[in-house]
Amino acid sequence: MNLENYFRQHIKNISSYEGVDPSSKLASESGIPKDKVIKLNANENPFGKELGLGKQLSEINIHEYPDPLQKTLRTNLASYSGRKYEEIVAGSGSDELIDLLIRIFLEKDDILIDVQPTFGMYEFSAKIQGAKVCSVSRRDDFEIDLDKILNSVSNNTKMIFLASPNNPTGNILSEPDLVKLLQSELIVVIDETYYEFCNISFSHLINKYENLIVLRSFSKWSGLAGLRIGYAISNPKIIEKLLLIKQPYNINTAAETVALEAISKKDFLLEKVQILLEQRDRIYEFLQGKKGIKVYPSHANFLLVDFGEIDANIVFETLAKNGIFVRKFSHTMISNALRISSGTPDQIRILLQVLDQFIK
Ligand SMILES: Cc1ncc(COP(=O)(O)O)c(C=O)c1O
Repeated sequence: MNLENYFRQHIKNISSYEGVDPSSKLASESGIPKDKVIKLNANENPFGKELGLGKQLSEINIHEYPDPLQKTLRTNLASYSGRKYEEIVAGSGSDELIDLLIRIFLEKDDILIDVQPTFGMYEFSAKIQGAKVCSVSRRDDFEIDLDKILNSVSNNTKMIFLASPNNPTGNILSEPDLVKLLQSELIVVIDETYYEFCNISFSHLINKYENLIVLRSFSKWSGLAGLRIGYAISNPKIIEKLLLIKQPYNINTAAETVALEAISKKDFLLEKVQILLEQRDRIYEFLQGKKGIKVYPSHANFLLVDFGEIDANIVFETLAKNGIFVRKFSHTMISNALRISSGTPDQIRILLQVLDQFIK
């Protein structure tokens, strides 16, 4: 038997999604003790255990399946986001919702517009579905090029994903641009995974535009990346379809329990968000004005830095030797740039000390 003849044709050609390494692997590969690793490569919440979430996990009924309709969770997400119960469904991270939405809307050979550079999962999930991806570049300042996008629409184009703030560039979408896209009758997914860092949302438009879906996440602001929890806000017709096709128990009991706890402690968590924004600005102020370096303004918990004449690979390696791990990219527009997540005041002090040694 030749297994190669059995794999679906389009699955054979998919390249794997490059996720980030966990701190245990970074530590073992670099020889740096785990507690010295400064992980600024995935926009996670560096306060980790300090956030004090999950203490009651030993009390939960792990022998029972969670509620497939997510009633308690959806009720609480509705009041947290100021939306209605029937406008919300939770997913195993925004990642799962990206995949489910693509499966709801795209037939094989339908086209998704991917406005690059951006988060890689839109393209990845579309390709798994056998859909086609039309890549449209952003402008030099990473704003979207609305004319270019609209000109790229053809009969099979059905859907566009835009992150706001965008990862890795940190900029937000303008409402007039979004409205023009919504009027073009594409299915428009606005990925607000970093919403709590900027407080700018487009969810108020869901009642006016049936083709809008907004995605949110608990991974970044509330530090629950490891539990995998996010949610979609949209009109009830789309939410019903998401509920219909999702795995019945997609939100595990631990994730649900801690997400509810995060909602109840949101004021405390948002204070930590403020600290992360201050630390991001501290990095920005340090790098801004350094010769040849361009640091892009950001509305999220990370910064994109183009190192100009300095080889970003050297910066990456030097930081790594000092236990600081950041993210690099292959996309041509940002091939000499690094994305640096914000961190605790101590982590950023060490980052700036290391950068200061070779950036004048
Ligand atoms: C723009 C964007 N969307 C979605 C995600 C995935 O979020 P989640 O952890 O909720 O799946 C990320 C993670 O980095 C992201 O940057």
